[in-house]
Amino acid sequence: MTSPTSGGDREKLTSKLPASLRHTLKIRAAQLSTDVQDAVSDGITAWRIHSEPLPTVDTAGAESFGTWLPEGLYDEFKQDCATRGVSYIQGLAQSVALWLEQNPTAEESASTRRILVCNQKGGVGKTAVTAGLAQALAEEPRPAQGDAEDTVGLARAAARSGLRVLMVDYDPQGHLSHQLGLRAIPAGSESLITHMLNREQAQTPLMDLTVVIEDKRFGDRLRILPAAFDAFLLDSGLTMFRGPRHAALERALASLEPHFDVIVLDAPPSLGLAMDAAIYYGRRRDGEKPGTSGLVIPVEAEDTSAQAYGMLINQVHSLATDYDIDVDQLGLVVNKYDSRRGYIATSSLDKWKSLGTPPVLAVIGDLKEQREAVRLQRPLLAYAPESDQAHNMREIARRLT
Ligand SMILES: Nc1ncnc2c1ncn2[C@@H]1O[C@H](COP(=O)(O)OP(=O)(O)O)[C@@H](O)[C@H]1O
Ligand SMILES: [Mg+2]
Repeated sequence: MTSPTSGGDREKLTSKLPASLRHTLKIRAAQLSTDVQDAVSDGITAWRIHSEPLPTVDTAGAESFGTWLPEGLYDEFKQDCATRGVSYIQGLAQSVALWLEQNPTAEESASTRRILVCNQKGGVGKTAVTAGLAQALAEEPRPAQGDAEDTVGLARAAARSGLRVLMVDYDPQGHLSHQLGLRAIPAGSESLITHMLNREQAQTPLMDLTVVIEDKRFGDRLRILPAAFDAFLLDSGLTMFRGPRHAALERALASLEPHFDVIVLDAPPSLGLAMDAAIYYGRRRDGEKPGTSGLVIPVEAEDTSAQAYGMLINQVHSLATDYDIDVDQLGLVVNKYDSRRGYIATSSLDKWKSLGTPPVLAVIGDLKEQREAVRLQRPLLAYAPESDQAHNMREIARRLT
């Protein structure tokens, strides 16, 4: 590795890399719409904060390789290589290998479902559905109807396992985090937003920022990535973002996907660039079965909800056209339904049902357990596991699996 020469706010790195790694790196970066220099910078940053020893990469016959790093990173990397007693070539090879591992192709991570709970209207139940659905998916399996009647059925129930589920609190208001007893990450501290907008400054792997929701019924399968106060600045940050802004969320969450079967995202009540990045993240990936990932839309049985739904769908359609993607609407949840409100409520419900696509996954009443669980900052399925609301959430989970 030769000395760096200055190149604006970047420095030239000249080293060697095995041809196969270099080839895979180029292809993967193109697949993820990332520059090779950003991929290498991210890999080196991840390598520097990686606490476990990494496997040695065979660098015999490595060929010359050059790229540009953010100013200062080269010196820090050199120091770390010396401290760890590895050559720069080995350090670079490990960094690139680590980046490839943490940034799988869409096909490799196709098994992680992405569910976006969204509606720009506030108060319709996005947060309630995100939390309930995630808990129902992660919950220790319960015998299905009929299972308990024979030993084969019981064995079948035991063999099913709850899923590894991540809730992402993507709403700057942080209601989801708060309801589960967590504070939003304070302004200026590292968060999902850092990993989206300033990846090279990130010091902590995103997985380390996730928090386990402790309850025996979830094992250690249910986690949350708490909200960040800085999310208020996400839309303006994305306006100035120099990379592919629509893929900013996907790139940030890629390293988490190998750890989870499902990622459920509590979307903000807005239709800005942050939401575009979320919709893009929920698109149907190459090779993914239709209806696996996509949008779950809580609505109410009233006219303003229908208008809001129309606006959301317009945005989804224009994004789908711009990026030539498919975004599946997995279903609607008609929430806080009260037929005693009369004709407006009943006729609105009929309209939602008559859409057919997306299907109505559940019709949920105005239920006290939902509000109580929120007030007590307890997961609904732990607080009132046999309540109608808990069963509604299990029904939504069942309809989606
Ligand atoms: N089915 C329900 N029954 C009773 N209260 C509900 C129900 N769904 C949501 N709520 C309450 O309504 C309020 C708004 O719901 P929330 O999920 O925060 O909406 P959003 O995330 O769309 O703004 C919260 O206080 C929540 O506890
Ligand atoms: Mg909310």
